[in-house]
Amino acid sequence: MPEVISVVNQKGGVGKTTTTVNLAAGLSEIGQSVLVIDFDAQMNSTNWMLGRETEEDEASIFDSLDTVAGEEAEEFSLAELAEDSGAGFDFIPAGEDMIANTFDSTIGRSGAYPNQLRVRVEELEREFEKGLISTPNGPYDYCLVDCPPSLGRAIMVALVGSDGILVPVAADGFSMQGLKQLLNTIREVRINNSDLEIIGILANNLDLRSGLVKDMEEALHNRYEDLMFETSIPWRSKINEVTTLGTYLKDHAPSSDARSFYKSLAHEVVERTQAPTPA
Ligand SMILES: Nc1ncnc2c1ncn2[C@@H]1O[C@H](COP(=O)(O)OP(=O)(O)OP(=O)(O)O)[C@@H](O)[C@H]1O
Ligand SMILES: [Mg+2]
Repeated sequence: MPEVISVVNQKGGVGKTTTTVNLAAGLSEIGQSVLVIDFDAQMNSTNWMLGRETEEDEASIFDSLDTVAGEEAEEFSLAELAEDSGAGFDFIPAGEDMIANTFDSTIGRSGAYPNQLRVRVEELEREFEKGLISTPNGPYDYCLVDCPPSLGRAIMVALVGSDGILVPVAADGFSMQGLKQLLNTIREVRINNSDLEIIGILANNLDLRSGLVKDMEEALHNRYEDLMFETSIPWRSKINEVTTLGTYLKDHAPSSDARSFYKSLAHEVVERTQAPTPA
């Protein structure tokens, strides 16, 4: 089975999408095969990898989860939806219907809720094992889910379908408060998925010129100890540029330290998922 990791934080703009896509690229650079799933109606990672938003009549992750929920709709497996990102890994786009009011009134109300993603990942694995399917970069070692900034029903589906979570966090007071709330939610999800691990908390977007940011980073490490990744990601213009331009560090800034940070994060993720950190 692929290791399914949700990149999650209910706080907006902390770097979930940035981390998901750059980590996927980093993992693939160190020889892992990766599928990214965009779970966010904002379609930021879809835009990054596809170069545009999905059209209303285009299939997206919603159509895979919705069918499992028993809706009368065309059936889409994850394999059918997987597209080549052009950076060595595959992705599945989001659609506007991932927005909370649509999601909650369909998938979120079905009897199958919140198992839809888990069912689809198990189906994907069975199909690969039987040699029934092929995708551009599968079968997968990792499946990374780019979550929206909420703790709503879509997140519950993502978390119940995941083996672990990766939490990007900014080194500021509000982010640290939000982290406490998130970790409480994880305890609730464990009622449905007792195996859910915290793979790691990632200090991201650190402006290391600020003494306060350095103090906050230290406070994160003191408080969350081994749950923190040793790698942290400083603010880098190259990172901002790849998200804006929809390109990848290996093409846009091949010799940048930013690229090496994500490779080192990728190595840590591999180490930790072989022997996950107890929460
Ligand atoms: N380490 C970094 N260096 C420079 N810019 C960064 C870094 N991390 C994130 N950013 C920038 O911060 C902005 C927000 O990042 P991103 O979209 O990944 O956050 P998010 O958590 O996915 O947001 P949302 O909650 O809306 O989904 C983007 O413009 C991105 O380029
Ligand atoms: Mg995002």
